[in-house]
Amino acid sequence: MKSYQKLTTPQPAGCQVEEEGAAPMPPARGRMAPWWVGSGLLVAAVLLSTITVWVLRQVSGGWLGPTPPPKCLLVPESHRFDCYPERQVVVTQELCESRGCCFIQSPLPAEGKQGVPWCFYPPDFPSYTLESLNQTALGMVGLLVRREKAYYPRDIEMLRLDVEFETDTRLHIKITDAANPRYEVPLDVPRAKKRAENPIYSLNFSWDPFGVLLRRTATGTVLLNTTVAPLIFADQFLQISTSLPSRFLYGLGEHRGSLLHSLDWNTLTLWARDVAPTESFNLYGAHPFYLLMEEGGDAHGVFLLNSNAMEVALQPAPALTWRTIGGVLDFYVFLGPDPNMVIQQYQQVIGFPAMPPLWALGFHLCRWGYGSSNGTWQTVRAMRNYQIPQDAQWNDIDYMDGYRDFTFDSQKFASLPSLVEDLHKHGQRYVMILDPGISSTNPHGSYWPFDEGLRRGLFLNTTQGQPLIGKVWPGYTAFADFSNPDTHQWWLENLQHFHAHVPFDGLWIDMNEPSNFMDGSEDGCPPGELDSPPYTPAVLGDSLSSKTVCASAKQKASVHYNLHNLYGLMEAKATASALTQIRGKRPFIISRSTFPSQGRYSGHWLGDNRSQWKDMYYSIPGLLSFSLFGIPLVGADICGFSSSTSEELCTRWMQLGAFYPFARNHNTQNEKAQDPTVFSPAARTAMKDVLLTRYSLLPFLYTLFHHAHLQGDTVARPLFFEFPQDVATLELDRQFLWGRSLLVTPVLEPGVDSVTGYVPQGTWYDFYTGSSVNSSGEMLKMSAPLEHLNLHIREGSILPTQKPGTTSEETRGNPLRLIVALSSSATAWGDLFWDDGESLDTFERGSYSYLVFNVTQNIFTSTVLHASTEATSVTIGTLSIFGVQKQPSKVLLNGQEKPFSYLDNQVLTVSDLGISLSQGFSVQWL
Ligand code: GLC
Repeated sequence: MKSYQKLTTPQPAGCQVEEEGAAPMPPARGRMAPWWVGSGLLVAAVLLSTITVWVLRQVSGGWLGPTPPPKCLLVPESHRFDCYPERQVVVTQELCESRGCCFIQSPLPAEGKQGVPWCFYPPDFPSYTLESLNQTALGMVGLLVRREKAYYPRDIEMLRLDVEFETDTRLHIKITDAANPRYEVPLDVPRAKKRAENPIYSLNFSWDPFGVLLRRTATGTVLLNTTVAPLIFADQFLQISTSLPSRFLYGLGEHRGSLLHSLDWNTLTLWARDVAPTESFNLYGAHPFYLLMEEGGDAHGVFLLNSNAMEVALQPAPALTWRTIGGVLDFYVFLGPDPNMVIQQYQQVIGFPAMPPLWALGFHLCRWGYGSSNGTWQTVRAMRNYQIPQDAQWNDIDYMDGYRDFTFDSQKFASLPSLVEDLHKHGQRYVMILDPGISSTNPHGSYWPFDEGLRRGLFLNTTQGQPLIGKVWPGYTAFADFSNPDTHQWWLENLQHFHAHVPFDGLWIDMNEPSNFMDGSEDGCPPGELDSPPYTPAVLGDSLSSKTVCASAKQKASVHYNLHNLYGLMEAKATASALTQIRGKRPFIISRSTFPSQGRYSGHWLGDNRSQWKDMYYSIPGLLSFSLFGIPLVGADICGFSSSTSEELCTRWMQLGAFYPFARNHNTQNEKAQDPTVFSPAARTAMKDVLLTRYSLLPFLYTLFHHAHLQGDTVARPLFFEFPQDVATLELDRQFLWGRSLLVTPVLEPGVDSVTGYVPQGTWYDFYTGSSVNSSGEMLKMSAPLEHLNLHIREGSILPTQKPGTTSEETRGNPLRLIVALSSSATAWGDLFWDDGESLDTFERGSYSYLVFNVTQNIFTSTVLHASTEATSVTIGTLSIFGVQKQPSKVLLNGQEKPFSYLDNQVLTVSDLGISLSQGFSVQWL
């Protein structure tokens, strides 16, 4: 065995590798030590392992075989990288050693948990060697060679390493087959034009075994060290591990759980799947991206641009292993340094989210099983009758004729066109569901979507070249292949036909994992390495085809094996394009399945939750994770989808849901109605009030979406994004912020009239009264009777609000009220983006207004940085200033004296300003 050496900087012969800010080190030779060796841990590690083995022997009654080789004992438990992740077999010593790995049995973990792997890589397990490294315009290109085969078939001997220093805060590392092209995700990612000049990171390599070591220069923190376990790159098994600088890791969707992932032997699987959200299951979307908080408040993010079925194994070292079964290893690392910047930088690669129409931010109502258009209409009327805000009415699959897309039930939904017309008359919108499974069993000539799709060859095909038939709501169905551009045209034509009868405004694309009630197809799946790969990640159902189509299905762009996780993204892209062509306005789409860059085309809802308190809580980490994924338009089914809600749960949930960026109450069929109108007057009023509060905040929310669209800011935001230095915020996921300044603290349990929430250090103002709370950064108990949602405004901010109407259209004509929350130094800042709410590309075309609000030295100033005609018809009516410590003697509007009111809780109000949004102005208090 070769001797161990310290990690060194690459210095290939004949090539001066420029160190990005790192001090050069002596050249590497020989095998490198595991990263924890040489840092004083060696002795401890051996001791620990020996003790562990001894203890295990005692508790197990001596079942352990011969003492494992010393090199195995050397590896502390937390650093054991799984050499036998196959779940279907219980690994034996023989199986393990056949792979050249170490076998040490550990006690079985509690049920449903993973534990320390019994079979793990020894430190000298063969990996790749970096053979050459040459400069390129943007970075370096290297050759990696594996001399000893690993244990998966079609192990690739020579790999190409491409490193691009794309920006000062973004590094791109790609590893692929040096000889043969492989499948790559068809995503347009911007390419850097020149090499970063002053990167805030430094990159080193280990030559043998090959490894990447990435540091943040300013702190020296090691962000990546891939020498912790061997790199494996076989045709259908690609694996790379890295150490992590902390345990504060977020992202990696779609999963249900707390916002912060546990690193306690936790494997997250990414494979789009239709299943009611359950902890540890792979869910509807796939987001191979994580954000990690480093000690001291810096953050970085890592994106693996790969769409194959994969697993991410987290372990307490702390360390992480990416394990994917196809494609290439294409990593982007974002260095922040703060979490907001990491997410912006991530979206610079995947694309910024679309600007939603304003009405998308209103309240949406849906249920499966209104049963008829008249039944749907009745609910709309009841909502109007109680003057409860509602922007959009939705229908689920029951509107369709036999659950077939692009049809509607001519009996039960005969009045649908009139309902839609009526909605439009009231400034409301109509959204209906569409599924990608196209009914395939209709008499020929009776169902154009299928006949024409078949004629044009637009469906997923079996390996035999026939349309793959599965089962969804209508019965047997074929599946539209959205990787084919021709399918987009056919989808458009279908939508055009339907729109001519039912002029819908937005679309809800469901079942697009794609979901299939049969595993694979009506004929199952053929044998072969796509449907039965050498390694299957820990997907629910243990098979790639579980509740979806065969991985071997043929699509235009590749095999479904590669494209599965992209199905929802490609459908959203087709749908957004169709909607734009049909309506000529900004499209509104909500999709169940998602993939990075989805935000450019759609929002997302968190799927089939249940009417349970626990599900209500999980919606918060769920929506915050999607903020990280660049899909800000997100929410969960308010009041819960399946099982029956209670009045209390639904009231609390409407309060929380009123602060989902996408707020929709949706219910399954055969459950009691759960829209606000069906509850007692008290509950109904509480729901109405909180919706009015949401509507009053639409200008603020819309402005946040503008920033998301423009530069990838988050809308619903975890607290640690704003207080990254405050470690107490790192695990908070029962509260969240809107933007940087509105703190939402919902009640998430039954039978209480108070809620305890964290209030970061500083002054916060009660949203409703303007009274201040000073916090040293502590948990505070807040009063929360059933009709009350706690909302606090952060000092130093200015929120544009508006007198709420019952639709966003009505609201947008009302006067604005600016709420100023003064900081301890009596300053504040805010802004407002305003446009017509629905035209395409208003920002890009310059058809918008943008105002900046400022307070310093008792002077409030509104500055119009960009003006457009829409703004002239709207006025700013009221200025409320929270935290004015002394009663002013005079208030001047543009130098003219103006009446005002001042309350004991230090709230100064100036009303009847009547200033057009297109005019700058100032208010001074003396
Ligand atoms: C799926 C959707 C759900 C919808 C149902 C019927 O389960 O997730 O929201 O109501 O299908 O279309």
